[in-house]
Amino acid sequence: MSIDLAKDARRLRVLLLLAALVFAGLTGWIALRESRPEWEELQGKFRRQTKTSANQKQGIMQLPTCAGTVDRCTTCHLGIQRKDLGGPEIEQPFKGHPQGTAHHLKNRVGCSLFHGGTGRALTSKVAHSMPGTSQKDPMLTQPFIQASCIGCHVPGDQPGMPKLTEGAKLYLLLGCSICHPLTGGGRGGWDYGPDLRSLGRKSLAYLEASLIEPTANFPQSTMPTFKHTFKGQPDHLENMLIYLLSLGLPDAGNCPNRNRQNEAMLSEACANCHSGQSGQACGRFEHRCLYLIERKSELSCAGCHQESIPEPGLGQGLCPPINQHRANCVVCHLEIEKEAGL
Ligand code: HEC
Ligand code: HEC
Ligand code: HEC
Ligand code: HEC
Ligand code: HEC
Ligand code: HEC
Repeated sequence: MSIDLAKDARRLRVLLLLAALVFAGLTGWIALRESRPEWEELQGKFRRQTKTSANQKQGIMQLPTCAGTVDRCTTCHLGIQRKDLGGPEIEQPFKGHPQGTAHHLKNRVGCSLFHGGTGRALTSKVAHSMPGTSQKDPMLTQPFIQASCIGCHVPGDQPGMPKLTEGAKLYLLLGCSICHPLTGGGRGGWDYGPDLRSLGRKSLAYLEASLIEPTANFPQSTMPTFKHTFKGQPDHLENMLIYLLSLGLPDAGNCPNRNRQNEAMLSEACANCHSGQSGQACGRFEHRCLYLIERKSELSCAGCHQESIPEPGLGQGLCPPINQHRANCVVCHLEIEKEAGL
């Protein structure tokens, strides 16, 4: 092979020039891209589409949430408060918020508490991911958004969360609470399963595998498979997953909530009211508790105490069979602990 130094040098110079040009082009492109981040593009587009005046520059929107975090979702979701942008012709992220949940919007609760996602993020990819992961947050879409309701509601205390409520009931029905009792330390008498409230956010696939193929996540798992229970029952599986998602959510902190308003009554002895003949109670009070209503035939005092309610004895005034049910209360009344007089 012959060596032509002059020719090689020329070739090298052309190559270097090309490389320099490509580099300059790339830098320019990156600079241009950086100077116009996704949210700014979207704000421009929103102004053009809705003919909002151009000097109404919007910039980054920051909304403090009641959980002490910050949401910037409205930086891109610019039509959220606009009733005129609710129609099907409007595309995301410019759609107005569906009505019917307006009371939550009013209270400056924030967006990520309901929809999940990463509140501070300014790119849609990160903003729509579960915090700390690159997986799209399932709570962004129905029906999985129902998981969020547990932060401030007892499942079933308001309309709009039927699948969460069914999930809670399934949790009891399938005996999950025997091994995962959801009490103080997370471990009950059986000392079997981990506290599902300390799991943190997990993907639907992970949670589903825990139920269908427990050894997928833990090779030595002693948890029985629920493959046959959920076979051909996609609705039941979805309800269960929504309830499990809800358990992994962070605490809603000091947000205004409705789930503590039953606290005092939860630890009250039933006999405080049910003291009449065969445990009748009087007064204008009506139970709203799904459990007490749906299990009336098991819990009705008259079913066991045909005459008068016994005086406090070994049970210190708390009825022993009814007390056995107390282990179930925490599945919906998450805020109470077994120790608190129950
Ligand atoms: C950087 C801009 C941007 C930010 C920030 C942003 N989004 Fe979005 N969002 C979009 C765009 C664009 C779409 C439509 C395309 C898509 O679904 O990704 C969208 C769609 C959505 C949808 C509809 C998705 C669906 O599957 O139907 C929801 C819900 C949503 N965003 C919630 C949020 C929440 C909650 C936050 C804050 C945690 C947020 N977004 C932050 C740009 C953004
Ligand atoms: C961050 C706390 C929080 C979360 C999360 C939350 N709520 Fe609420 N919700 C409240 C509070 C507080 C009220 C009582 C509002 C009031 O009285 O003004 C309420 C009231 C309601 C009402 C009654 C509205 C009315 O006009 O009386 C419904 C229905 C409701 N919530 C449904 C839901 C559903 C469905 C979810 C889950 C998708 C949910 N909520 C999640 C805090 C929350
Ligand atoms: C016989 C006891 C038992 C029952 C019943 C049971 N589990 Fe488990 N579960 C376990 C054990 C033990 C583990 C931890 C895996 C291991 O180390 O073996 C586990 C793990 C899990 C995990 C994964 C936890 C993690 O850290 O990743 C989920 C989710 C779960 N269980 C949900 C359920 C649900 C929902 C039910 C009811 C349908 C249920 N379990 C019933 C014993 C049980
Ligand atoms: C604030 C008073 C009050 C408390 C506390 C209370 N109840 Fe009731 N309960 C009532 C009233 C009032 C009724 C309706 C009148 C009736 O059926 O006696 C009722 C009805 C019921 C019914 C339906 C009765 C039937 O046979 O149709 C059941 C079951 C029930 N209560 C169970 C309980 C249990 C279990 C507790 C304790 C965890 C409890 N209640 C605590 C006031 C109360
Ligand atoms: C499934 C049957 C059953 C039902 C339903 C039931 N009890 Fe009892 N209760 C018992 C038994 C058994 C005892 C213990 C033996 C005894 O003292 O009669 C008991 C004991 C009690 C005691 C005495 C506790 C102590 O200090 O020893 C009270 C008070 C009581 N029940 C109240 C109620 C009230 C109020 C209801 C309805 C809300 C109710 N029970 C429903 C079976 C039942
Ligand atoms: C499947 C979910 C679920 C379970 C499990 C459950 N509750 Fe409830 N409970 C509710 C709902 C929903 C309400 C209504 C809350 C509201 O309107 O603020 C409620 C309310 C209550 C109240 C307030 C008074 C009333 O009846 O409205 C008491 C007391 C109560 N529950 C006791 C219990 C006890 C004791 C247990 C366990 C033996 C229990 N609950 C288990 C869903 C549940």
